[in-house]
Amino acid sequence: KKVVLAYSGGLDTSIILKWLQTEYGCEVVTFTADLGQGEELEPARQKAEMLGVSEIFIEDLREEFVRDFVFPMFRANALYEGQYLLGTSIARPLISKRLVEIAEATGADAVAHGATGKGNDQVRFELAAYALNPEIKVIAPWRIWDLTSRTKLLEFAEQNQIPVAKDKRGEAPFSVDANLLHTSSEGKVLEDPAVEAPDYVYQRTVHPEDAPDTPEYVEIGFERGDAVSIDGKALSPATILTKLNELGGKHGIGRLDLVEGRFVGMKSRGIYETPGGTVLLEAHRGIESITLDRGAMHLKDELMPRYAELVYNGFWYSPEREMLQAAIDHSQAMVSGTVRIKLYKGRAQTVGRWSDQSLYSEAHVTFEDDAGAYDQQDAAGFIQLNALRLKLLAARARRTKG
Ligand code: ARG
Ligand code: SIN
Repeated sequence: KKVVLAYSGGLDTSIILKWLQTEYGCEVVTFTADLGQGEELEPARQKAEMLGVSEIFIEDLREEFVRDFVFPMFRANALYEGQYLLGTSIARPLISKRLVEIAEATGADAVAHGATGKGNDQVRFELAAYALNPEIKVIAPWRIWDLTSRTKLLEFAEQNQIPVAKDKRGEAPFSVDANLLHTSSEGKVLEDPAVEAPDYVYQRTVHPEDAPDTPEYVEIGFERGDAVSIDGKALSPATILTKLNELGGKHGIGRLDLVEGRFVGMKSRGIYETPGGTVLLEAHRGIESITLDRGAMHLKDELMPRYAELVYNGFWYSPEREMLQAAIDHSQAMVSGTVRIKLYKGRAQTVGRWSDQSLYSEAHVTFEDDAGAYDQQDAAGFIQLNALRLKLLAARARRTKG
């Protein structure tokens, strides 16, 4: 038996690796992806080698991640439950895709992941894997083994000479997931949603109160709904997000303290930092505001929560997500131009936007003399016909009252 494990090099997946080998009795292939989590990948290779793995896959997926997953999602302005930018959710389908491909290439019949049996990630990994290969087997050690507490886990690590990393406070770390789009932190002190998260939870943004006292401006260029340049310089998708993360992080932008409804039914509390993504969402909305027709925009906004829920629930590779994506992508044909954003003390604000495809017509909207561009008399009949049903309703209400 051979299994491809999504291996971060961290404590939990190292324990899983060992457990798969010794307790589950299979040969393990590891897959470690650089999704921009900001960690060295070489230690993961060394650890895997130390644990006797002979087939080790380490890949830089940053460009693919941003180009084929993050950007398509940002065309939709996706937010789950109004606030969450889906930083973890959107990375899972890509990891699963590579797990399945590596399984096929190495002759493995199964893939394995380190998500617990209580969360969303197990669902996302597995739905994506099955959608891409209906024969694949999935091993989820957290749902099988008897290492049911942190203490038992640490004992297992100690017995098997697996090094235990400590965070700044000398305890076992939080549950953290990071990539180019975001860092999420869950568990431990965060489990009481009534209590404000301590400062040390935040990893990639400064406290807005400590952010620079002078605002900074950035100009983001868009083509067909995707960011393509910063301050006039054409850059690759991952480079753009990296730069926006630096800028956003420096100005304390993109912090979120959220209680969300997990797909499996329970609520959970998380701290999210999405500096670049928050700037990008604001900018995308900014360029859409002048280039998207109202009807298209409002329909898009109605579809958005559905789209976000599909991404959150792990249905990236589903016909309904692809249908929505096709509609969203179609809407972006004219979403090109430039947005000027002001970054200041935790906020990214659109302060200017321009485009060759703009629908904004100063001639029509001006408070000054519009030189006949718009006939104000047209509005009278427009209002009368729209008022007709409201008048009939009001008349009935008066008639039938008391
Ligand atoms: N609650 C977020 C989500 O469902 C973040 C999950 C974080 N995952 C993790 N393995 N730490 O998308
Ligand atoms: C996990 O359960 O492994 C992390 C949290 C989640 O997936 O929602």
